[in-house]
Amino acid sequence: MSADLNPGAVGAPRPRIEGPLKVTGAARYAADVPVPDLAHGWMVTAPISRGRIRDIDASTALGMPGVLGVLDHRNAPRLNPRAGNYFGPDGSMQLLQDDVIPYAGRPVALAVAETPEQARAAAAALRVTYDVEPHDLDFSLEHPAARPASTAFGPEADTGDVEAELSTSAVVVDERYRTPEESHSALEPHAATVWWDGGHVYAVDSNQGAFSVSEVLATLWSIDRERVHIRAEHVGGGFGGKGACGPQVILGSMASERFGRPVRVVMTRVQVFEATASRPPTDQLVRIGADADGRLRAIHHRPAYALSPLAEYIEWCTEQAKILYAAPAIRTQLTAVPLDILPPASMRGPGATPGSFALESAIDEVAERLDIDPLELRLRNQPPVGPVSGLPFSSRRLVSCLREGARRFGWAARDRRPRTRSEGPLLIGTGMATTSFSAGVFPSTASITAEADGTFTVSVGASDIGTGARTALTAVAADALGAGAERVRIRIGDSDLGMAWGAGGSRGTTSWSFAITEAARKLRENLGDPARPVTATVDTTTMIDYQPGRERQTYSAVFAEVAVDPATGEVRVRRLLGMFAVGRVINPLLARSQVIGGMIMGLSMALHEENVRDPRTGRQTNGDFAGYHFAAHADVPDVEADFVPDYEPQDPSGFNGLGEIGTAGTAAAIANAVWHATGTRQRILPIRLDRVLEPADPGTPDAA
Ligand code: MOS
Repeated sequence: MSADLNPGAVGAPRPRIEGPLKVTGAARYAADVPVPDLAHGWMVTAPISRGRIRDIDASTALGMPGVLGVLDHRNAPRLNPRAGNYFGPDGSMQLLQDDVIPYAGRPVALAVAETPEQARAAAAALRVTYDVEPHDLDFSLEHPAARPASTAFGPEADTGDVEAELSTSAVVVDERYRTPEESHSALEPHAATVWWDGGHVYAVDSNQGAFSVSEVLATLWSIDRERVHIRAEHVGGGFGGKGACGPQVILGSMASERFGRPVRVVMTRVQVFEATASRPPTDQLVRIGADADGRLRAIHHRPAYALSPLAEYIEWCTEQAKILYAAPAIRTQLTAVPLDILPPASMRGPGATPGSFALESAIDEVAERLDIDPLELRLRNQPPVGPVSGLPFSSRRLVSCLREGARRFGWAARDRRPRTRSEGPLLIGTGMATTSFSAGVFPSTASITAEADGTFTVSVGASDIGTGARTALTAVAADALGAGAERVRIRIGDSDLGMAWGAGGSRGTTSWSFAITEAARKLRENLGDPARPVTATVDTTTMIDYQPGRERQTYSAVFAEVAVDPATGEVRVRRLLGMFAVGRVINPLLARSQVIGGMIMGLSMALHEENVRDPRTGRQTNGDFAGYHFAAHADVPDVEADFVPDYEPQDPSGFNGLGEIGTAGTAAAIANAVWHATGTRQRILPIRLDRVLEPADPGTPDAA
């Protein structure tokens, strides 16, 4: 839109539209919606990692007060086995279809009763017995079943001669890094309220993309998608863990069909941990060679991650090795290791976050061995074009992030020798890391109606999972319409609003904004016509340039200061500063909040988070908020985040995504600061007290 038509809603720091609803408790989540004649379903999950159900004895449960019935593989409705996720068929959605247990936490039954308490009691009274088979959860890069990962996100890098470049390098870093299985831990547990009416199924569900959930549920039931109506008006966090059509809505739809009543399924916190997907563990080898003056000669990144034979998945750890640095030889080899686990899912910067922990730790190790400032090392190796693709960069404001971040952090005063700063008994260190995250746009539809009263109604199948999407899109629509934001009413979170990408892959806002902007353009062509209401609808599927011929990423530079107590191994992050290049910022208040949230998640990953499994059963032993540690207020210092001026030329309004760039990069910055404080490298996350006191070898079996 031209500037004279732009009232400036984009760029204004407006608070969330739904903020008052949320702080007063008026906002209704999936488990809050009042529905008459509601019944309640309670999941029962398998405590073994592999085997078969021998028997389910429901006789006691069926005689209990208020119990309507029990669904299991013997009596549940049949589902279409072709249903799947983004990558194809996904056997974790085929619930209650057979007696096979492919992972611990597999739902094996749903007890349905008049109240949640009665359903819970009936679930507890079910006697389920199993024939246990040996399971395999022995994750490592050397696992015999390891195989090349899918290249659906693009080919692996293989440019130049890595071995030759390494052999002529002045220094070679050759190290192994590990990150654990982690869980998304959204505050709102997965929940759905589901009912059928006249061959249509309706659900209020907690998810990141109502339209894609409606598509999957339609496939599961083999019905037209138009017969599936999914609403997700308010969602209490997702972080990738609510991208899928979840067990709550699948089981809820089965029970409501069977019992002819609306059914609500709300997972317990333990069930969220065991029956919804996690970030897979990674085991990564990185080799980097450099000249004495700090020019990189070779990068070889070889990460492995765990997945399930039930569904394809990509933990794209090799993304940054292809983007961040110039080197004559770059090779990436992403490896997938099938194990007896629930299929993993994208989590908080999938791939990029664990991948950049390894890569950016290794870069810091190169700087250490060359005795070069790690900021300077990064500045010396900036590529003029995509180092593997050879494509020009669309907008790459990384050097601005590095320089401005260093200035604000006070990096120039740093003595780069480790273990040189202390305060009383504490060792003080600073570290940094940089990263990129892929950006882009996916097809979406949007409709805008010019109403008779001069207002506009914007309908787009967007999701607001707590990010402020509703508020950001209102600003985008206002500017695109040349109207004040107070005249724009936005409707989102409903599959009936049409095809749309979900809140994921850092592509929600770009995808929805593109559709809104195009719909506004189309509507404005008809605004001269006095007839009201008038509606314009667009579908951007054919408008997107799928081969733009440019590298499109967002960028960050993250700086951290830590204090380490050498007596206890305790690491406290004292300062975090992130500078980000994310295209044009729609709402600085929300954008800052989002990247700060991402940095806190990165801090949490660095120091706290890991799923721990019992090797005998394969079950998670810390699957609740007492056992699964993440950063609480007391763990989070003053976090500063800001944006360098940026404009994405491939977007009609200059936008890029910022959902995940805040998380990627932060863990490496903290690990590098811990090295600077202590002189010891932490190559395994989380940086637990015991690991600070006695660093483990990432190559040993008990390391992760
Ligand atoms: Mo995201 S982790 O792509 O929901």
